[in-house]
Parts: sequence; C-alpha cells; structure tokens
Amino acid sequence: VTKGKLLYEGKAKIIYETVEGKGYLVHFKDTITAGNGEKKAEVPKKGEINNQISSLIFSYLKDKGVENHYISQLSTREMLVEKVGIIPLEVVVRNVATGSICRRLGIKEKKVFSNPLVEYYYKNDSLGDPLICENHIELLELATKSQLEGIKAIALQVNALLTELFESIGIILVDFKLEFGIGEGNRIILADEISPDTCRLWDMESGASLDKDVFRKGQGDVLQGYTEVLNRLKGRS
Ligand code: C5P
Repeated sequence: VTKGKLLYEGKAKIIYETVEGKGYLVHFKDTITAGNGEKKAEVPKKGEINNQISSLIFSYLKDKGVENHYISQLSTREMLVEKVGIIPLEVVVRNVATGSICRRLGIKEKKVFSNPLVEYYYKNDSLGDPLICENHIELLELATKSQLEGIKAIALQVNALLTELFESIGIILVDFKLEFGIGEGNRIILADEISPDTCRLWDMESGASLDKDVFRKGQGDVLQGYTEVLNRLKGRS
C-alpha cells in the first residue's frame, strides 16, 4: 500500500488516500491536545503507541463480531482502514462519573452508574462540540432514527466488550468516545481510533489514570500510562 493524497488532517491523525485506491491510510501523530486544542504538546512516540493500541482493540472487536474500519497495521504509526464517510458525531459512553458530566450536572466524581450512559456531541470545532440529544441528531440530519438506534446498540456492545477486556488486565474502563462512518452499501461502521487519547482508563489497584487526563491535568509523564496499557494488552494476546 502506497500513501496517496492527504485527505484530512486532525489534531491527532492524518488521513491519506492510497495510491491503490483500496482503503485509507491513517497516520497517528505525536501531537496531544486538550480543551478543544487550547492545550497542545508533542509527545514523542505517542502516535506509535496509539496506533498499536487502536489496532489491538479494533482486531479484538472484529473477532467479537463488531464490524469496524480497521484492516491492518501498515507500520509503527500507520494503519489501513476501510473507506468510510465519518458522521460528525462523537458518541460518549460513561460507566463512572468524571470529566465534563461532573462539571455540567454536578454529579459526584467517581459515582458508578448502574447503567452505562450514552451521550452525543456534535463534532464541530467552531461550536465547541456541543452536547446534543437524539432529536437534535435528526434535526441536523446527522443520522436517521434507525441509524442512531444501530449506533447506540454498537456503542453499548463495545462498552460491554471493552469493559471485560480491560478488566482482564486490571483496568477500569471509565468512559470513552467513539466515532462512526458510513461505508459501502450504507453500512454503519465503527471508525476513528480507540486509545488512551479517547478513553479514560484507571488502574484497578492504584486508581491512577493511564490516559490523556494525565496531560489534561498536567500530572506528569502521560506516555507512561499509555505504555502500560499497551504492554498489558500485548501480554494478554
Ligand atoms: O471530557 P468528557 O468527560 O466529556 O470526555 C468523555 C470521554 O470522551 C473521555 O474518555 C474523553 O477522552 C473522550 N473524548 C474524546 N474526544 C473529545 C471529547 C471527549 O475522545 N472531543
């Protein structure tokens, strides 16, 4: 597979066409951002680690029957994915309260939800990715009612599978964000990345954050947690 035209550059990834025309090439950058890009830094090797973690998680989900855009890992920082048109929606699933939901709704930190909570955010930088409800999604024509039902079901399935996966390596899956795309034949396909940039992961024993919160809160070496997550995932497969 040969890298083709640059299609899109985001905060943490670059998407290229492939010369062969089969699939897209995803390049994972070392850039880390928080607060919609207000805080920004370069973390050498982060891209390589997130590429590997995302690849392992997407493969695991595929094995468990969750269709997703991952095809193969091409190099340390690059993966080959199916061509999909990304839906501008961020689907967040929460098992434990922290982050924006505590600020927004006054919920106590670390409250464990009896049922996973699914939230939707409109992926729009200039609007600051606002929280929206299912009616807004229909109104903005981001997805139809039946597409959204499919998206929610997949998000909850991913939550159940990843909760179990992380539990088996001593990690609590606190919350995470998913993105979906429309693939061939109008299929809804899980896409983007699943990594410590997009998940909150707490070590079961120490409670330490093994994710981007270390950067958000300026608590030191963010890569240490990411590396720990990768090593534990590798250790199980
Ligand atoms: O900030 P908030 O508490 O809403 O984040 C919920 C989850 O979604 C966290 O795991 C966070 O890393 C992820 N997220 C993301 N991209 C965003 C916003 C949140 O990956 N733009």
